[in-house]
Amino acid sequence: MKIGVAKEIKSDEYRVALTPAGARELADRGHDVIVEHGAGEGSAFPDLAYEAVGAQIVSVDDVWNDAELLLKVKEPIASEYGRLREGLVLFTYLHLAADEDLTRALIDSGISSVAYETVETSNRALPLLAPMSEIAGRLAAQAGAYFLEKPLGGRGLLLGAVPGVAPGQVVVIGGGMVGYNAAVIALGLGANVTIVERSIDRMRHLEEVLGSRVTLLMSSSLQIEESVADADVVIGAVLIPGALAPKLVRREMLATMKESSVFVDVAIDQGGCAETSRPTTHDEPVYTVDGVIHYCVANMPGAVPITSTRALTNVTLPYVEQLADLGVLGAVRANPELARGVNTIGGKLTYEAVAEAHGMEYTALDDALAAGVASASSP
Ligand SMILES: NC(=O)c1ccc[n+]([C@@H]2O[C@H](COP(=O)([O-])OP(=O)(O)OC[C@H]3O[C@@H](n4cnc5c(N)ncnc54)[C@H](O)[C@@H]3O)[C@@H](O)[C@H]2O)c1
Repeated sequence: MKIGVAKEIKSDEYRVALTPAGARELADRGHDVIVEHGAGEGSAFPDLAYEAVGAQIVSVDDVWNDAELLLKVKEPIASEYGRLREGLVLFTYLHLAADEDLTRALIDSGISSVAYETVETSNRALPLLAPMSEIAGRLAAQAGAYFLEKPLGGRGLLLGAVPGVAPGQVVVIGGGMVGYNAAVIALGLGANVTIVERSIDRMRHLEEVLGSRVTLLMSSSLQIEESVADADVVIGAVLIPGALAPKLVRREMLATMKESSVFVDVAIDQGGCAETSRPTTHDEPVYTVDGVIHYCVANMPGAVPITSTRALTNVTLPYVEQLADLGVLGAVRANPELARGVNTIGGKLTYEAVAEAHGMEYTALDDALAAGVASASSP
């Protein structure tokens, strides 16, 4: 199969969907890999690195027109809608529930699209989201430590302190993938760490892996109020799947927090878990409300593309191989995880939550396949 790798053109996006190592794996399986000129530059992969493993460097027109399977990181933006076409299989993050225009563009074009974020295992894990949560969690602890520095407006406190001086206090709200990784780095920096969770099973697991080095507390409104008042850094890391983040940190709680403490709201991509959170960018990551520094960058992994690109290819490659080897029809029949990732196929919307979000017609994937709508996409 001819596999294309497009360059990301969304602002502040430096990741690329395939590393040269991934390109070689695909070439070794007998596939042709075409990479848009400069696609890997932001992740420190020059064109030469792809050519060295047998990939061909092509123009933006050629990568979109010639590929049978197109790999991207972020969803197509409006200027790319005209490039969507029947017979092409697109594998990327899509987040369609939040983007009606793109959903329509995908349906109207007849393209088959498989969304990274909806590929789901039988135990409801989201394997293509997990590495970005790991990265965001680890960055959150770093960002908290950094913005505590006085010249940056922070309290002027070294999280890990030194012998003879008390360390800083980090409170993580939500002990899932982001929260666990934030805690690991905060502990590594030498901070005192508390995780406030609502799942007792998850807390049992966290105790097993982190031992007595963290304090684990059951989440409640009162507990959060007391914990944030004590904190130098608060990290918001809650998730209620498919829903907006609950506003656990209310405006009046800020008044009880330490002056110039830092609140890192990683859950900002789901609306944020504080009443005072609003999305920020890497250019202007922080703002202050009632003396509390808010860091609310919605695409944190974008700051570390060398790490994020490798972490992404590590998890996407097995699925890419399956799509390339079997074609989209064969792959979704062979692998239910990939089948759950299909959002549109041959002009039909096959992801129920997206159809509900936009009041559009939903077609079950099996029905779409039975109708043979995707015959143009088979290898
Ligand atoms: N800003 C970014 O760049 C970025 C990057 C990756 C992930 N995220 C976001 O980070 C958030 C967390 O993601 P994750 O992968 O860790 O999710 P996860 O499902 O692994 O963990 C969420 C945790 O929150 C807990 N939780 C839910 N409600 C709670 C409450 N009321 N009090 C305390 N805990 C509660 C859950 O029990 C769960 O353990 C999500 O909103 C995700 O979209 C943001």
